Amino acid sequence: MGAPRWRRRCLLLLPALAFSAVLYGRCRPAGGGSLLQQEPLLLVPPELSREAGSHDLTRESIIKRGQQSKYSPELEKPRPTWEQPSSCLQSLTSKVKADSKFGKLFDFRIPVLMWDRHLTSETWNKLKGRGVPYGWQGLSYTAIASTLRLLNDSANRWLIDRASFPGDCIRCAVVGNGGILNGSRQGKEIDAHDFVFRLNGAVTKGFEEDVGTKTSFYGFTVNTMKNSLIAYREYGFTQVPQSKELRYIFIPSDMRDYTMLRAAILGSPVQDGSDKGDEPSKYFGPEASAKKFKLLHPDFMHYLTARFLRSDIINTQYGYLYMPSTGALMLLTALHTCDQVSAYGFITDNYENFSDHYYELEKKPLVFYANHDMLLEAELWKSLHRVGIMKLYQR
Ligand SMILES: *[C@@H]1O[C@H](CO)[C@@H](O)[C@H](O)[C@H]1NC(C)=O
Ligand SMILES: *[C@@H]1O[C@H](CO)[C@@H](O)[C@H](O)[C@H]1NC(C)=O
Ligand SMILES: *[C@@H]1O[C@H](CO)[C@@H](O)[C@H](O)[C@H]1NC(C)=O
Repeated sequence: MGAPRWRRRCLLLLPALAFSAVLYGRCRPAGGGSLLQQEPLLLVPPELSREAGSHDLTRESIIKRGQQSKYSPELEKPRPTWEQPSSCLQSLTSKVKADSKFGKLFDFRIPVLMWDRHLTSETWNKLKGRGVPYGWQGLSYTAIASTLRLLNDSANRWLIDRASFPGDCIRCAVVGNGGILNGSRQGKEIDAHDFVFRLNGAVTKGFEEDVGTKTSFYGFTVNTMKNSLIAYREYGFTQVPQSKELRYIFIPSDMRDYTMLRAAILGSPVQDGSDKGDEPSKYFGPEASAKKFKLLHPDFMHYLTARFLRSDIINTQYGYLYMPSTGALMLLTALHTCDQVSAYGFITDNYENFSDHYYELEKKPLVFYANHDMLLEAELWKSLHRVGIMKLYQR
């Protein structure tokens, strides 16, 4: 006992930090205000919430607000996911509403994705005060705007367009890369979902029986994607998953994510920054179009961290390194998008029984880096499973 849990963990982690910085590249100066701020989450403009109360926003009031916006002459404000209501009778939203704790944490009205209509003075002013991945502090308006303007397809607004989905309930599997999947024989069950999310070093070749083959979404930061290609190459991760149907989810953890996204949509080499000259088609295949790519909204990142994964690490000297893991971000994205969610390959109580990843040949212990709080994530998955909001694969 004695030291709080995070401190014991962080001390253990320090030797790993140098490697972590290489592997995850998240070492950057803290820069005032770049950490998760204590401000209440403003999901609606303050004036509006005073006028209307944040829970009964009408579409009319949103449009009215849009008309006042200087940068965006259009009448419409960005339309969030909840404007495509679900017809699913067994949707996780009903489980969420019925739960006293999660009913207060989930807010399905927050936009999950960011697209061109978000480029308003209001958004710029808010996000320039928060560091990445929760905002745009220190980033150039011109650079951000040149990326956002390209996200002008209706496919950039929704992860899944309910209007063209044939069924009632959207069933999603999110596949983490945990060793628990080795020998699990879950492949068929995973592939039977309508949509399958994968991330980072998601090797499927040779592991089909355990993890399936289908990939609908691949989530990453440019940093985690490139590091996965290096670190897991020896296990067969020689290429980012590609197919005609597959969509990529960019996590905006750094300017290089915006820069790569722009190049990917334009189908041209990256123009500046640390990836300058890199060819996006190497990672995402030949199709360069706005339809192919999605960008998580920095507000959504902020909301997820503040409400679901507000780790004690944030208040330590390593706070600037912290953000939820890529797997956590994908799982929470699915929970705000799909009607039913199953998680495979995520951390469980008995993680010590399994290797770090399902594709390792010899058992390697799960490595705890200071930039994530895997035990906090484990607790979250466990309680979401317990109350029936999602299904967590355990063995
Ligand atoms: C999106 O923007 C591009 C480049 O400005 C333009 O060519 C394209 O027609 C636009 N697409 C839509 C759906 O507005
Ligand atoms: C799982 O791990 C625990 C403690 O690390 C150990 O006691 C147990 O035997 C393990 N079980 C299996 C099936 O390996
Ligand atoms: C994966 O499972 C096989 C069969 O159970 C086992 O022999 C192997 O050691 C496991 N690999 C790791 C990395 O745990």
